[in-house]
Amino acid sequence: MNKNKIIVPLSNNSYEVTIKQGIINNIGEELKRIGVKNNRKILIVSNKEISNLFGGELLKNLKKYKYSAEIFNIKAGESYKNLASLREIYNAAFDIGLDRNALMIALGGGIVGDVTGFAAATWLRGIEYIQIPTTLLSMVDSSVGGKTAVNHPKGKNLIGAFYQPKAVFIDPETLKTLPPREFKAGMAEVIKYGVIKDKALFEYLENDKNRDKILNLENESLIKIINNSIKTKAHIVSEDEKENGIRAILNYGHSFGHVIENLCGYGEYLHGEAISIGMKIAGDISTEKKLWPKKHSLRQDNLIESYGLPTKTPKIKKNEVIKILMGDKKVRDGKMRFILPKKIGEVDIFNDINESQFLKYFD
Ligand SMILES: NC(=O)c1ccc[n+]([C@@H]2O[C@H](COP(=O)([O-])OP(=O)(O)OC[C@H]3O[C@@H](n4cnc5c(N)ncnc54)[C@H](O)[C@@H]3O)[C@@H](O)[C@H]2O)c1
Repeated sequence: MNKNKIIVPLSNNSYEVTIKQGIINNIGEELKRIGVKNNRKILIVSNKEISNLFGGELLKNLKKYKYSAEIFNIKAGESYKNLASLREIYNAAFDIGLDRNALMIALGGGIVGDVTGFAAATWLRGIEYIQIPTTLLSMVDSSVGGKTAVNHPKGKNLIGAFYQPKAVFIDPETLKTLPPREFKAGMAEVIKYGVIKDKALFEYLENDKNRDKILNLENESLIKIINNSIKTKAHIVSEDEKENGIRAILNYGHSFGHVIENLCGYGEYLHGEAISIGMKIAGDISTEKKLWPKKHSLRQDNLIESYGLPTKTPKIKKNEVIKILMGDKKVRDGKMRFILPKKIGEVDIFNDINESQFLKYFD
């Protein structure tokens, strides 16, 4: 098999993730290859910034392959990952007569991907959709695995569905226009895979030469880290599609990360920055519980910082922390569950952490 094609093996809807330089300009051919008939209407959901960069070529190429497609832009930013944007997509779908045979394409980062996925899951009780992620975070994480959602004022991603895409097409070339801060935020998820499952990836990321290549956006190293990350994600998702068990380990660093995003206001910290701090807290708790040695904790924190990501917790009121954590989707039967590292490349799920063990990090 082509080493840049990964199958996400699921019981009834397996799909391919293709990672290829330049693929963004040849989506028509890819759709044809995976059997999308050209009598199907396509609604591409994006935002202005992204569609200005890639939308024109995408439409041109789809036209070449006789697909009829239109672009609809939602507003950019986490504060627009909401029901209002969803309604706008439904309106656009209605206006262009998007029927049950139609297809949506998410062209953008995790926000566009999550909202479009949920729109596709719910429009006419579900139509197919394709992910074309354009941020590092969405390439290595959100475009694969079928978690779709919008935020509720009371919390992040509270309204959503598990709904798998028909295919994912990743073009590392699109990262060349991504602001460096966004790129680095995506590295947090890559580091996460190293800590939870892939020691070799962790060590690859630690190497100075590799870091230079990655931060200079050299194609080969980008394809390597995207490929490794998705392999881990695909493996975990195929074992536990709806997060009844093992899939929760993908949320390493996320419980505390969500607290930070939520209480500091979405936007002050990017998602990847918030989970970097979350991973640091989880690592410290694990060291304190004598689950993993201090030297590993330090290796993790050094790696996070070496990619320009934060590890320092902002000042947050402790009672607010509890409120957010209890509202977290990872709470089961009133018990908070935390993912803590045991080795580099191995984590476990714990529900016996008491408040005092984590609240001190929010002083
Ligand atoms: N579904 C999941 O499993 C999952 C997993 C992790 C994160 N998420 C979600 O993903 C979201 C964050 O996604 P994100 O980090 O991709 O942010 P994002 O979608 O906001 O994109 C970041 C910014 O970069 C711009 N942009 C995107 N691609 C670009 C490109 N190639 N060139 C120039 N600019 C570009 C966007 O317009 C935006 O301003 C959060 O809402 C988070 O909850 C979902």
